Amino acid sequence: MHARAARVNSSELDRAVEVLRSGGLVAFPTETVYGLGADAAHPEAVRKIYAAKGRPPDHPLIVHLADSAGAAAWASEIPAAAERLAQRFWPGPLTLVLQRARAVNDIVTGGQDTIALRVPSHPIAHALLEAFGGGIAAPSANRYGRISATTAEHVRNDLGGAVDYVLDGGPCEVGIESTIVDLSGSQPALLRPGNITADAIEEVLGFRLAAAGAASPRAPGMLAKHYAPQTPLMLMEGDLLVELATSMTRQGSKVAVLARSQMQPLLKGITWIAASNDPPAYAHDLYANLRALDSAGCSAILVEVAPPEAAWAAVRDRLTRAVAGSPPP
Ligand code: TXA
Ligand code: MG
Repeated sequence: MHARAARVNSSELDRAVEVLRSGGLVAFPTETVYGLGADAAHPEAVRKIYAAKGRPPDHPLIVHLADSAGAAAWASEIPAAAERLAQRFWPGPLTLVLQRARAVNDIVTGGQDTIALRVPSHPIAHALLEAFGGGIAAPSANRYGRISATTAEHVRNDLGGAVDYVLDGGPCEVGIESTIVDLSGSQPALLRPGNITADAIEEVLGFRLAAAGAASPRAPGMLAKHYAPQTPLMLMEGDLLVELATSMTRQGSKVAVLARSQMQPLLKGITWIAASNDPPAYAHDLYANLRALDSAGCSAILVEVAPPEAAWAAVRDRLTRAVAGSPPP
């Protein structure tokens, strides 16, 4: 990965704003993953996002804002719990689902009566939002169902000419998508785990979050199959992983491994990535690691299961979906 300052020059920013104003698509870095942005108030522009990603049109998008004051234009009501979470975690990797304002176009909400809002902390995302002056609708900048993009290069590889302009801010700091909390109903619920843990949110709220249930708004992006590599991916305990990697290699298969340690014995011919034992550091590299292993030309990717502790919840979530979305071995 190349190091690049989390900054762009003013002509790059001007160009990006121009593209957004003329109804085009701009990919931009956020602290979580790269977003594929369009003017959220411009239905034709938002429609291009779905076409570029190959995403079904009823999957709602997150509207990104420069600051929390902007939320009033998109949500009909901001409950006290939402105010408290925004105060504590915005700008940052938290998305709040609220009752939508009437003026919001159905193309953004997927026809639901709720809206997802986020104020990102990444300096480039923030500068873009400030300069643009409106809401930017943006899903993760990957092809539908595939691994999210955490570098500008990932975006270009996935979406190529479908994006009008890419702002390059280097690798994303968090590396996995924002935590999503639904505050549109009577009981706040966790819709997607992320770097901001359920514990941290509950501490601010002063009560427990509900699990996403039947009463929660539909979050179609949370389908079981997601973040999927094109190589079969299998999750297993470390000792089983070593055994299987060894026997597959002996039988002449090329095997890729994502484990949390450099396990012994080191076998020749295995593409082995030793990831961190620290959940945020593991998450930071997760998608780049999966992409690297996916393009290594192996017949399977064996991934060591994440530990059961709460701190690993977001990583476990992404790994489980990646398995469900990958082709059968
Ligand atoms: O970190 C992130 O959240 C990144 C960056 C770019 O901000 N964005 C992102 O967007 O991950 P996307 O579209 O890939 O995932 C958004 C998720 C989807 O699962 C979608 O279904 C859900 O949010 N969502 C959006 N609007 C919603 C709504 N009104 N109600 C419930 N879920 C919603
Ligand atoms: Mg996504």
